[in-house]
Amino acid sequence: MAKRVILAYSGGLDTSVIVRWLTDKGYEVITYTADVGQGEELTEIPDKARASGAVEAIVEDIKEEFARDFCLPTLRALALYEGKYPLTASLSRPLISKKLVYYAQKFKADYVAHGSTGKGNDQVRFELSVWALNPDIEVIAPVREWEFKAREEQVEYAKRHNIPVKVTKEKPYSIDRNLWGVSIECGPLEDPWQEPPEDAYQITISPEKAPDEPEYVTVGFEKGVPVSVNGKNYSLLSELVLELNEIAGRHGVGRIDMVENRLVGIKSREIYEAPGALVLYEAYRDLLSLVTDRFTFHYFLSHVPHEYAKLVYEGLWFTPLREALDAFTGKLSEYVSGEVRLKLFKGAVSVVGRRSPNSLYVEDLATYSEKDAFDHLAGKHFTKVWGLPLKVLGRRRT
Ligand code: ARG
Repeated sequence: MAKRVILAYSGGLDTSVIVRWLTDKGYEVITYTADVGQGEELTEIPDKARASGAVEAIVEDIKEEFARDFCLPTLRALALYEGKYPLTASLSRPLISKKLVYYAQKFKADYVAHGSTGKGNDQVRFELSVWALNPDIEVIAPVREWEFKAREEQVEYAKRHNIPVKVTKEKPYSIDRNLWGVSIECGPLEDPWQEPPEDAYQITISPEKAPDEPEYVTVGFEKGVPVSVNGKNYSLLSELVLELNEIAGRHGVGRIDMVENRLVGIKSREIYEAPGALVLYEAYRDLLSLVTDRFTFHYFLSHVPHEYAKLVYEGLWFTPLREALDAFTGKLSEYVSGEVRLKLFKGAVSVVGRRSPNSLYVEDLATYSEKDAFDHLAGKHFTKVWGLPLKVLGRRRT
């Protein structure tokens, strides 16, 4: 019986060549292609996969599962890798891995394969996720071990084997896109001093070319789930995010330029676009702080965003640690209902208003007007006790 493998297949040059390469090595290849909101037409994928040698081609729309089960918990954790990157590409890997494992079981395949290289993070995320879900499956990563050095050799190989590849002018960038955002690397971006050329950006307009008038957008939340944009309800979170990408993208919001620490020890220069995600991060953070008491909010900020971002980035999605952190942020999210008003202008997003039925903001306590209900004398006694250690320190100093 032929060895059977489920291959994560994008339809690009690399994965098309992989289909044939695996077939040559004696594998029976079934391709798996997911719609995660990459904005590409996938109707031609099955024909393309078969023409490259696949025996079966699966195409599946998993946008909503991606948004609900992967993007939403990460938003609730306010996780940004190294304080900047909203983990767009990192988040799709565990979900795609879950699907590879599912179809491997369904089609009785002992192998899964992916097209990641040996110096990136994605190989780690794919393999750790697959092993966590089924330790008996073997993972093959042809790009790590095959003989091709240059792209031309792959094109040559493809031609020789009648693999359909579009002979387009080679784009200098490596791009990974889904509904949560776009990651762009390679080409001119490899010089960290050079400003990213405008053609590197895929879904945002440059702030210089953005409208001269600001646009206001109101995002509504119910129990920690974004449910509306400008009063319009969305039953699908994926649709809401795509709409916010449009709105914020046309104001140049969501561009990120950073040098980041990869898992394999390399620093790499990456740029990202995540207009919708960053609007949601701003909004969620603001509403969370409005409805959460100080002790809990400070604990959350010290312990969750950085840890969560690291575990997503480092391929540790399928761990009890992630589930436990989700339970924590899930508890806090129960109160995150209400609306946040944001202003988009020339590349910037700022919260300008918020309201919630669970708000802990008490105007009578906060006000400096005659309505003030705060006991000012209590402030005197509080300060005396709170400041006592400093008084003691001060005595030692003098
Ligand atoms: N550096 C980012 C990450 O590790 C993006 C990787 C995107 N992959 C790509 N093929 N461009 O999550």
